[in-house]
Amino acid sequence: MKKIARAHTNIALIKYWGKQNAALRIPLMSSLSMTLDAFYTDTYLEPSQQEQFYLNGKLIEGPEAQRVFNYLHLLQRRYGKSGNLSVHSQNHVPTAAGLASSSSAFAALAAAFAEYYQLAVNETELSRMARLGSGSASRSVFGGFAVWQKGTDDQSSFAYSLDSNPDLDLQLLAVEINTGAKKRSSTKGMQAAQTSPFFAPWIKRNSLELSQMINAIKNHDFTRIGQLAELNASEMHAVNLTAQPGFTYFEPTTIGVIQLVHEMRQNGIEVYYTIDAGPNVKLLCQLKNVKIVKEKLVSAFDHVKIINASFGPGIQYLDNYE
Ligand code: PMV
Repeated sequence: MKKIARAHTNIALIKYWGKQNAALRIPLMSSLSMTLDAFYTDTYLEPSQQEQFYLNGKLIEGPEAQRVFNYLHLLQRRYGKSGNLSVHSQNHVPTAAGLASSSSAFAALAAAFAEYYQLAVNETELSRMARLGSGSASRSVFGGFAVWQKGTDDQSSFAYSLDSNPDLDLQLLAVEINTGAKKRSSTKGMQAAQTSPFFAPWIKRNSLELSQMINAIKNHDFTRIGQLAELNASEMHAVNLTAQPGFTYFEPTTIGVIQLVHEMRQNGIEVYYTIDAGPNVKLLCQLKNVKIVKEKLVSAFDHVKIINASFGPGIQYLDNYE
């Protein structure tokens, strides 16, 4: 029996938000992420009469399945393989987390493909393969902190490990605000963002922000990591608000959480936020403040759910579902 590929989700602290080549998913900027232990996807492939995609034991049809099949066809063409496959995935990304699962989904799928065909691919090639499914997936090949260097073409655009097992007290609290499907896919969002007058300055700042973040990580400087992550996320959402026409992923509670973060910091509780292509907020803090931050959130917002995560590993291959 072939092994099951496991990939964890990641949260970008320096965001990918723009493509230079849509078909190959080559980004306009380099990005940096933290792989998370709490959320992951397990996937294996089987030969099959008909193409099928099972997610959490349920047969999936429609555009979600088509995206998976199109991706497998692309990899089959790339590696000279053929045949119908059925895909079996278990998503351990609780809906309550409000975290996109495409990073773990496509990294696990790329690894499952390599395992199924017994391809002799290294992690760099696995990262390129994952990138073709979803840009953020390129980083989920690695644990700890990973950098996706933008590159200029298929060969040069891949992620690498910055620190696979960081000796750093960094906790992520995923704050669920709304777990419904996002209003605008990340592909559409980043396309629209390019109409903002702030898009060019946003791209221009990328190499400075990336090198500042890499330094902060090397110095184990939690405060600087938090400040840089919050600034970078705010810039991404500022280009959305200033697009022509403008849009936002924020909901009223998103702003409420941002205000609470500001307030907590004024009161000496060190916490920072980052936000992706949706209304949910992810908070960065240290272990000593997890309890108080959770208490503040729960008392300010009635129904908010919070999930705690820290550093997760890179791709793993397992004999069985655990
Ligand atoms: O790769 P995608 O399509 O999941 O886009 C990711 C976009 C962000 O999550 C907003 C930023 C990032 O770098 O993960």
